[in-house]
Amino acid sequence: MVYHRETVMTTDRQPYLRIMRACEGLPVDSTPVWFMRQAGRYMEEYRRLRERYSMLELCRTPELAAEVTLQPIKRFDLDAAIIFADILLPLGALGVPFHFAKGEGPVLEKPVREPGDVERLETVDAEERLAFVYKAIELVRGSLEPDVALIGFAGAPFTVASYLIEGGHSRHFVQTKLFMYEQPEAWHALMSKLSDVTLRYLLRQAKAGAQLIQLFDSWVGILTRHDYVEYVMPYSARILQGIQQSGIPTVHFGTGTGSMLDLMKRTGGTVLGVDWRVDLNDVWASLGDKTPLQGNLDPVVLLGSANSVQQAVLRILDQTRGRPHIFNLGHGILPETPLENVEIAIQQVRKWAETNRER
Ligand code: CP3
Repeated sequence: MVYHRETVMTTDRQPYLRIMRACEGLPVDSTPVWFMRQAGRYMEEYRRLRERYSMLELCRTPELAAEVTLQPIKRFDLDAAIIFADILLPLGALGVPFHFAKGEGPVLEKPVREPGDVERLETVDAEERLAFVYKAIELVRGSLEPDVALIGFAGAPFTVASYLIEGGHSRHFVQTKLFMYEQPEAWHALMSKLSDVTLRYLLRQAKAGAQLIQLFDSWVGILTRHDYVEYVMPYSARILQGIQQSGIPTVHFGTGTGSMLDLMKRTGGTVLGVDWRVDLNDVWASLGDKTPLQGNLDPVVLLGSANSVQQAVLRILDQTRGRPHIFNLGHGILPETPLENVEIAIQQVRKWAETNRER
């Protein structure tokens, strides 16, 4: 692929970080691109490491987490690395043991079901027990090119609470919603604790070298607008505004959120993450053209032919003209994804930049 960045350093000798420029709504020489779950099972070098180590061993060993983080960066022309970790790691720090069961996802031995369980969460200095994440961030930042950004992240309080209460992955979030409706005081106490710990955890990630923070509220789209405002908004707002105040831009991400993007924007975040169920033009029409958006490609597209990948990527890019956008999927990359399609999608982003760049 023939592609040269016009300027690697800006005039004030800051590295040219497309993703940071997009966050500020500044013009870019190419739409920045990265993929959620860009390090993972679709890569054979990841699968090889997983034969020797469990998912949690990879996360908790800074040298291994750093190596996995860099795997997609070595293969592809990406604008950002995302630190290899998981939104559930803070559970361990809160004194709630869990593991990843093969084929089932996360399993908590003792889910939170009553007020006493919330009181027992070990929140004091919980972020200190996640030092392995900060160490991995330092290692990665030390070996990344200056024009590749490093993204830190955490789960938003609602999505993390759903795992704490359900004890694993859920379809209808029955226990979570019932907890919210039937034990509102305990719910608010839980959300308050989670938002405090999460904010401290993310500020530490930023201090260690994360330049952009993504808050994953993956499952918040299952709520009504009323419940979002009442039970979730103040807590995500506390985190997003706290990070913003430290000068670090944020991506506020969820799936199935088409009916609540205005509320999520009001909650906070420099960039709003969207899935593939919404039309970008509609979102910009309702939230304003200056709202930076991230995402929109259906992860399933990457399982198809080269031609359909190119068409789908172009359809998105053609909607973004003159508006701030970070190219990404609408949710995590699927383990069945062929590497070639990831390459094709990135190349399409770069080619489009070549032909559409303002001269
Ligand atoms: O994006 C990245 O490359 C960074 C790494 C990352 C992982 N998880 C690694 C992972 C990130 C950002 C996450 C976030 C995460 N984890 C979310 C929010 C985003 C989303 O997908 O909605 C959620 C809900 C989780 C919780 C989680 N972790 C589940 C439900 C599972 C099991 C399901 C699955 O995909 O296997 C995980 C495991 C997990 N986290 C894997 C990876 C690479 C697979 C682990 C493996 O078996 O190797």
